[in-house]
Amino acid sequence: MTGKILIAYTSRKGSTAEIAQAIGKELEAAGNSVAVADMKEISSIEGYQAVVIGTPIYLGQVEKAVPGFVGRNRDGLLSVPVAAFAVGITPVNSPAAAVEEVLGNLRAALEPVKPGAVTMFAGRLELSRMSFLQRTMIGAMKILTGDFRDWDAIKAWARGLPAILKI
Ligand SMILES: Cc1cc2nc3c(=O)[nH]c(=O)nc-3n(C[C@H](O)[C@H](O)[C@H](O)COP(=O)(O)O)c2cc1C
Repeated sequence: MTGKILIAYTSRKGSTAEIAQAIGKELEAAGNSVAVADMKEISSIEGYQAVVIGTPIYLGQVEKAVPGFVGRNRDGLLSVPVAAFAVGITPVNSPAAAVEEVLGNLRAALEPVKPGAVTMFAGRLELSRMSFLQRTMIGAMKILTGDFRDWDAIKAWARGLPAILKI
């Protein structure tokens, strides 16, 4: 079966937006009708049979836009299947427990909505896209920089979504 799916993302530097687009393409290729949009610009989720929510992680936190979006669309989100993904540098070189902690934060940010699936993808961290302050912080924290997005893993997750979302 196929359906009408909304992919609602937030993104500071574009890497989460591109992941949202890639997931959208994959779902479209499977015959679904897909809208990909910045969650701050979504006025209603009416008419969608499922919603996928995507957020980057900054300083361990899910973006505030997520609880904002959930709050504005609470009733709608409680009545359709929801899946969510986080994007960050944690999966690149941290223990699985660190990723689990982020996923716990993601679940908490979605409350009272219970997602059918949550995952975390490695993102992109490029010094050239950062402010002086951010560069200094990232340097001091010895955080890896680069584009770590694994498009095959992203597409594979997207292909599994229809079963999870029951569409
Ligand atoms: C100042 C700063 C803090 C960050 N903190 C985290 C973090 O705590 N955990 C994590 O996994 N990634 C962290 N990242 C990496 C971002 O999540 C990653 O660059 C992501 O791909 C950004 O998404 P965007 O391009 O959609 O904004 C941080 C990046 C910056 C610049």
